[in-house]
Amino acid sequence: MGRSINLEGKVAMITGASSGLGKRFAQVLSQAGAKVVLASRRVERLKELRAEIEAGGGAAHVVSLDVTDYQSIRSAVAHAETEAGTIDILVNNSGVSTTQKLAEVTPADFEYVFDTNTRGAFFVAQEVAKRMIMRGNGGASKPAYRIINIASVAGLSVLPQIGLYGISKAAVVHMTKAMALEWGRHGINVNAICPGYIDTEINHHHWATEQGQKLISMLPRHRVGTPADLDGLLLLLAADESAFMNGSIITADDGFGLM
Ligand SMILES: NC(=O)c1ccc[n+]([C@@H]2O[C@H](COP(=O)([O-])OP(=O)(O)OC[C@H]3O[C@@H](n4cnc5c(N)ncnc54)[C@H](OP(=O)(O)O)[C@@H]3O)[C@@H](O)[C@H]2O)c1
Repeated sequence: MGRSINLEGKVAMITGASSGLGKRFAQVLSQAGAKVVLASRRVERLKELRAEIEAGGGAAHVVSLDVTDYQSIRSAVAHAETEAGTIDILVNNSGVSTTQKLAEVTPADFEYVFDTNTRGAFFVAQEVAKRMIMRGNGGASKPAYRIINIASVAGLSVLPQIGLYGISKAAVVHMTKAMALEWGRHGINVNAICPGYIDTEINHHHWATEQGQKLISMLPRHRVGTPADLDGLLLLLAADESAFMNGSIITADDGFGLM
């Protein structure tokens, strides 16, 4: 018999579940048995995903969340725990990007990117972690809680045109390590996934352009990933079996970061 990751009995909250990676993360965690909480601003889309998950026999809840609004974060996490039960796994995934040279970045661009990717990700993790810390680890011999921050290869290497985005994601990488160190003793494992280029709404328009095609031709295997390419890594970081991984920053980029 094969061995598989079982998340039955766990509650997983996924931010930015209305499209792209977050939608896929929710589907995969649900397929592994977790009850999922779908969070973002476009609630209609979340309801469609909930219906799809429920039709497949899973359990899903929808909460409205704007990560740029601290009060929205607090009420979304409270709502999630009232509806679905206490959160065991957070996939901290909401994110936005802009394209411009650093010399052209305006204060509005800076706020737009940092308020979501950095400030938003920080306070979502903090709100969920505060509740985990208050609950304690329930006497479990292994760390029971998981926070999975979605950073980017752009937070590890400098990529042209998306420098501002990269700076915001470099902060998420450092934040992951700081949280892992401070919260590890409370049974919370905090790790980050740094994806390479994956075709989602954040960049879909780009791949058909001349610049996009040129970029693809320069990638090690001349291809952009799909959200399903992260399934295995997500499940690993969500699983009880990865209890010894804390503060790990893992790339999933088809070798792009090696160039
Ligand atoms: N695709 C890639 O190549 C790639 C590579 C590396 C890292 N990433 C990261 O992966 C994550 C997911 O991106 P994606 O590629 O799946 O892009 P996407 O399809 O554009 O999804 C972004 C998600 O973030 C949510 N979001 C944006 N602003 C928000 C806010 N203020 N409050 C709550 N949710 C918000 C959106 O939901 P609503 O609009 O419904 O709020 C949406 O569900 C991001 O953090 C991104 O930086 C992506």
